[in-house]
Amino acid sequence: MTQRSLVLLKPDAVRRGLVGEILGRIERKADWSITALELRRLAQDTLEQHYGEHQGKPFYEPLMEFMASGPSVAMVVEGERVIEGLRTLAGPTDPIAAAPGSIRGDFGTVVRENLIHASDSEESAEREIKLFFPDFA
Ligand code: RTP
Ligand code: MG
Repeated sequence: MTQRSLVLLKPDAVRRGLVGEILGRIERKADWSITALELRRLAQDTLEQHYGEHQGKPFYEPLMEFMASGPSVAMVVEGERVIEGLRTLAGPTDPIAAAPGSIRGDFGTVVRENLIHASDSEESAEREIKLFFPDFA
């Protein structure tokens, strides 16, 4: 089942020089491809739309501040079961609970600075791809 996902390598991943390492893990999955890729500082209104579901939660404001603290890498990944596959590759939200071998498990310690976002459903993926890459077909 071919799917697409919107992936963000968050500002901590860029700052720590982990973009190559994480991109490499995604690239090496058989039959997956990166079909759009850009390094950019994410605009406040883009972030508000992206994380709208969390508005009002105690971690929302610090999350917005963190996501605006430096450039991120935004990309579209396409291929066999990428939605579930990327969430598995990333590991659960809390990096301490994430298994070694996963991106968050290998490189993260605090919940907020957990390196990567990947769409959690096909519906979210379509919405997020439109938001980050409006010209993408
Ligand atoms: P994401 O949306 O970034 O892919 O992460 P996720 O689905 O694994 O986690 P979600 O619950 O959607 O939370 C979004 C991001 O907010 C930060 N967060 N901080 N308690 C906290 O301090 C807290 N909880 C969540 C993380 O950066 C998380 O990825
Ligand atoms: Mg989420």
